[in-house]
Amino acid sequence: MPNRLDLPAGFRWGASTAAYQIEGAVDEDGRGPSVWDVFAARPGAVRDGDTGRVACDHYHRYPEDIALMRGLGLDGYRFSIAWPRVQPTGAGPVNPAGLDFYDRLVDALLAAGITPLPTLFHWDLPQALETPSNSGSAAGGGWLARDTAHRFAEYAAIVADRLGDRIPAWITLNEPFVHMVFGYALGIHAPGRTLMLDALPAAHHQLLGHGLAAAALRERGGQVLIANNLTPVRPASQAAADVAAAAAYDALHNRLFTDPLLLGSYPDLSAYGVDADLGGCVRPGDLELIAGPGLDGLGVNYYNPTRIAAPTDPGLPFAEAEIEGVPRTAFGWPVVPDGLRELLVGLRDRYGAALPPITITENGCSVTDEVAPDGTVHDQPRIDYLAGHLDALAAAVAEGVDVRGYFTWSLLDNYEWAEGFSQRFGLVHVDFETQRRTPKASYTWYRDLIAAHRARHEG
Ligand code: FCB
Repeated sequence: MPNRLDLPAGFRWGASTAAYQIEGAVDEDGRGPSVWDVFAARPGAVRDGDTGRVACDHYHRYPEDIALMRGLGLDGYRFSIAWPRVQPTGAGPVNPAGLDFYDRLVDALLAAGITPLPTLFHWDLPQALETPSNSGSAAGGGWLARDTAHRFAEYAAIVADRLGDRIPAWITLNEPFVHMVFGYALGIHAPGRTLMLDALPAAHHQLLGHGLAAAALRERGGQVLIANNLTPVRPASQAAADVAAAAAYDALHNRLFTDPLLLGSYPDLSAYGVDADLGGCVRPGDLELIAGPGLDGLGVNYYNPTRIAAPTDPGLPFAEAEIEGVPRTAFGWPVVPDGLRELLVGLRDRYGAALPPITITENGCSVTDEVAPDGTVHDQPRIDYLAGHLDALAAAVAEGVDVRGYFTWSLLDNYEWAEGFSQRFGLVHVDFETQRRTPKASYTWYRDLIAAHRARHEG
């Protein structure tokens, strides 16, 4: 059996974060409000009323955080740029002080020998695009509005004009599936809409925004990736109804966001009563824009597989079923490392030559971590999770899947969206009262793994 040390020479090791989850400084240097500032302030929206107002105070403490990355020996760091820092109202005038922050961050990363991998949108849309002052539009704002795709491309061009000389590759969007479902269908995340299947235009407009932004980034010489949340879908049984339900779920979660990018077409969503133009929002030429000349890489965020059974609720063509007999993270997510191999091999089998090289852009585990009296954090469940998934990744590579790098979620404990500060995913513990950073046992483990992998291939 291949293991993680067998990952190829030149394999890139990284860690990921996102702006609203770590930066804080929400009112500083001209940043405009984002949908997350507004949503988090809504009573009952987020556990314990937590907000990203301070988060990890990374906006001020980034030099310390880069020193931690350097201590790990990271090749790359995936972070996100807050659109409302760059364009406080999501359109029009640029806020130079906002861009200055990312300029400093990028320079400090490069000085530490770490390649920056920025994501342009990790869910913190400028609030002004969600509720434009002139909007009376019944269709709704944010990503329900087609215009947001054009605004996104404009913003991408602004950022690339400033940072592009130092950024080899960009990630346009983070997890358009999760943003559509949690943000627009179920109301669990900002902007808190509960539109169920009427949320589908938010999928198309995000993908269109990706396509338009990708063209702007390529014109400026950057490579283009997207980070999708993907899951291998397992039918609860081989009964025809379960198998059909699993196919319907796979179409919504995975193929809706990979088929248009890689094949230039949407999957069949007829099980949802939705036709090929997603309720009328797909216009001629859109799919060509979304597929463009092809991605330079596919970012894959993987946490767990999904088990699906025939529907119990007449509104949807599937029902989620429990995965039994496996460990669970603190979040309750099933731990199934081989699901990563299954996912990657499945992508290769489905898309063949149309599949670009893959980078794992997120993978990690929440643990109820505490700093022990001796000052250490024993997060063995996280080490087990990472080791198991990296071995599964090595197995997929041995089966011929082209995977170029692995960015773990996350460098730091941070603001876990609707769960506030209750879910810790970091290699580094953050005390949110004092902002004290404490590297956990998993930090040392990851550092040693990176060093051992390098030694094996260089030595
Ligand atoms: C992903 C998000 C990331 C983080 C992890 C745990 O869906 O992209 O911001 O919340 O889950």
